[in-house]
Amino acid sequence: MSGNRTFTMLKPDAIENGHMGKIIDMIIQAGFSIKAMKFTRLTEEQAKKFYEVHAERPFYGELVEYMTSGPIVAAILEKDNAVADFRALIGATDPAEAAEGTIRKYYAESKGRNAVHGSDSDENAAIEGKFHFNDSEIF
Ligand code: RTP
Ligand code: MG
Repeated sequence: MSGNRTFTMLKPDAIENGHMGKIIDMIIQAGFSIKAMKFTRLTEEQAKKFYEVHAERPFYGELVEYMTSGPIVAAILEKDNAVADFRALIGATDPAEAAEGTIRKYYAESKGRNAVHGSDSDENAAIEGKFHFNDSEIF
């Protein structure tokens, strides 16, 4: 059975380019409710840990540098079928391959600087949410 929560980050390029409000609006208009939200900046240690699964990939160093380059918005979102529906809303990793109407199609700069993160499984959504929020910060 699929779960009803996912985790997202609006990445540094989205904030830097002034797209924060528009992206949050797209998320709400798509039917997600916000259970937790934080404007923050990842430390190098946090970014390394968050993207640990990519540690052996050639883009890992660049990814950590980018994710720590400025503030982000971290959020826990709720909706039926949250993980899959949110991945559909954000679109493919590379904006050149992202479907029309998706957040990455509108706002991502490139495959690396791609505006938004979405959890890829219910299990990771729970892990990633806990990584950023205490129970008392989730509504
Ligand atoms: P995310 O985890 O951020 O939601 O993105 P994703 O599932 O669509 O993509 P994933 O394969 O998990 O990659 C994580 C992030 O690493 C950067 N990346 N750069 N230059 C490259 O070839 C490359 N490939 C991936 C992107 O920021 C991607 O979102
Ligand atoms: Mg991923």
